[in-house]
Amino acid sequence: MASCYFKSSSFCSILVVVVLGVLVGFAGRSSAQLSTNFYSKRCPKVFSTVKSVVQSAISKETRMGASLLRLHFHDCFVNGCDGSILLDDTSSFTGEKTAGPNNNSVRGFEVIDKIKSQVEKACPGVVSCADIVAIAARDSVDILGGPSWAVKLGRRDSKTASLAAANSGVIPPPSSTLDNLINRYKAQGLSARDMVALSGAHTIGKARCSSFRARIYGENNIDASFAKTRQNSCPKTPGSGDNNLAPLDAQTPNSFDPKYFQNLINKKGLLHSDQVLFNGGSTDSLVKTYSASAETFYSDFAKAMIKMGDIKPLTGSQGEIRKNCRRPN
Ligand code: HEM
Ligand SMILES: *[C@@H]1O[C@H](CO)[C@@H](O)[C@H](O)[C@H]1NC(C)=O
Repeated sequence: MASCYFKSSSFCSILVVVVLGVLVGFAGRSSAQLSTNFYSKRCPKVFSTVKSVVQSAISKETRMGASLLRLHFHDCFVNGCDGSILLDDTSSFTGEKTAGPNNNSVRGFEVIDKIKSQVEKACPGVVSCADIVAIAARDSVDILGGPSWAVKLGRRDSKTASLAAANSGVIPPPSSTLDNLINRYKAQGLSARDMVALSGAHTIGKARCSSFRARIYGENNIDASFAKTRQNSCPKTPGSGDNNLAPLDAQTPNSFDPKYFQNLINKKGLLHSDQVLFNGGSTDSLVKTYSASAETFYSDFAKAMIKMGDIKPLTGSQGEIRKNCRRPN
């Protein structure tokens, strides 16, 4: 207390407690950061286990790689990367699975279950579902020919999920303007550059007719023959053929490459939110850069995935390590 300048000792004690509290708070935060070696002692087999299940799932159906990548995105953008998207609805609880951006659209839950059960056998109660999703997303990109990166780990699982948050627009809709996209990512701590790089995820996977109907029938900045081809399997009338699928990357839908960006330059972006990235606005030059350089795209994509994976994780004693990814313990 020697350094306490105030006469009242109870005030000093309070001051000391507050200062210490703040310091411990900071220390708590920094010690609760994610790290790439989080499981190196606790579960060294986690990486090989996840990879082999992802590999076999992709061998059965290539699209599954895309679905697993998207699962991580939709988990992270709704209250952070906490595995909330994996929770099943119950009679007394409605989770995120039926939210607008997810209903009849997100997939891969059975693959996550399979990984989880194998990881639980190897190291019971150690690896979170949120971390499994992050590793599965990385492995999917890698297996489909994209970059790899060191995944940061140590996320814990939420005990709940938020349907309202999943429906609130934090996951941007395909009708988004460029400004809207930039702002949505900014709200998550991601830059416009991160946003464009991450949109490159649409170099793999598929979208439903209902996600691109308005564009192929109503927009001018679209290649005419491309629009026609897409119209053949996506009827104009809302409600008919809503779930008919088309590849997000018309050229190479099964490989993680920069063709997505070339498509944008050729006015062959499938979603409105894809084409706005190259439509005379501030991100045109970056789209050109990525279309011409896989190296730049891959390096920016990997960096942006690490940033996305850092969105509001639960760490330390927050949340839990779920035993079953579909329900709280
Ligand atoms: C920039 C804002 C984004 C918008 C507006 C958007 C929108 C969409 C939409 C509408 C679909 C099709 C859904 C359907 O019709 O069922 C889709 C699919 C997909 N999205 Fe995005 N997305 C965005 C960013 C991202 C990001 C950041 C990632 C991952 C890093 C991602 C990965 C994917 C993948 C891989 C698919 C295909 C999934 C599959 O085939 O199962 N998207 N996205
Ligand atoms: C989700 O999709 C199903 C059709 O598979 C539909 O019956 C249901 O109403 C949808 N839920 C919501 C909340 O839109």
